[in-house]
Amino acid sequence: PITAILAVLASYLLGAVPAAAWVARSRGVDIRTVGSGNSGATNVLRSLGKGPALVVAVFDILKGALAVLLGRALGLPEPWAALCGVTAVLGHNFSPFLGFRGGKGVATSFGVVGMIHPVVGLGAFILAIFMMWMTRFVSAGSILGAAAAIVMIVMVQAPLWMMGDVIFLALLLIWQHRGNIQKLQAGTERRLGEKA
Ligand code: G3P
Repeated sequence: PITAILAVLASYLLGAVPAAAWVARSRGVDIRTVGSGNSGATNVLRSLGKGPALVVAVFDILKGALAVLLGRALGLPEPWAALCGVTAVLGHNFSPFLGFRGGKGVATSFGVVGMIHPVVGLGAFILAIFMMWMTRFVSAGSILGAAAAIVMIVMVQAPLWMMGDVIFLALLLIWQHRGNIQKLQAGTERRLGEKA
């Protein structure tokens, strides 16, 4: 049990590493004051370009995936390994390094779901990318991917704990996008490739 608790705490700290904020800072940019103000790969893309955004996206996906792998490597039962992943997303969204604020958990949740149910992770990813490509709204794609993950994890009749984790992550992701949803409705959401 002590191993499980330490793994969950370590996962929270791993998830909390604010790649977007730190990459931006290394380039003299305060990510919270540019673009959407969000500490995530999308906003890094907007304000710093493709290279830094790719670094942040890969790092944030790895945070989620590695948290699950850490749990597994320590020999924890799969529900505990998955919980490590969920905690990594909480660390990302509510990071002590950013005054308990953070990103929206898109990349990190994808890393976690990709590890605990690769088929559902891939399905959500494909739908999200398709939506982003069609609308040029990263937020709309993220929200669709999350909603699709809920439907798919129920459809595949995953174990209850896994359903709970995926539904929790998806609902949290949508909640984190509440500002984006308002902007989408108001017609003021930034499209891919749009600055300001
Ligand atoms: O990466 C999160 C994305 O879905 C929205 O980001 O910066 O457009 O609010 P942003």
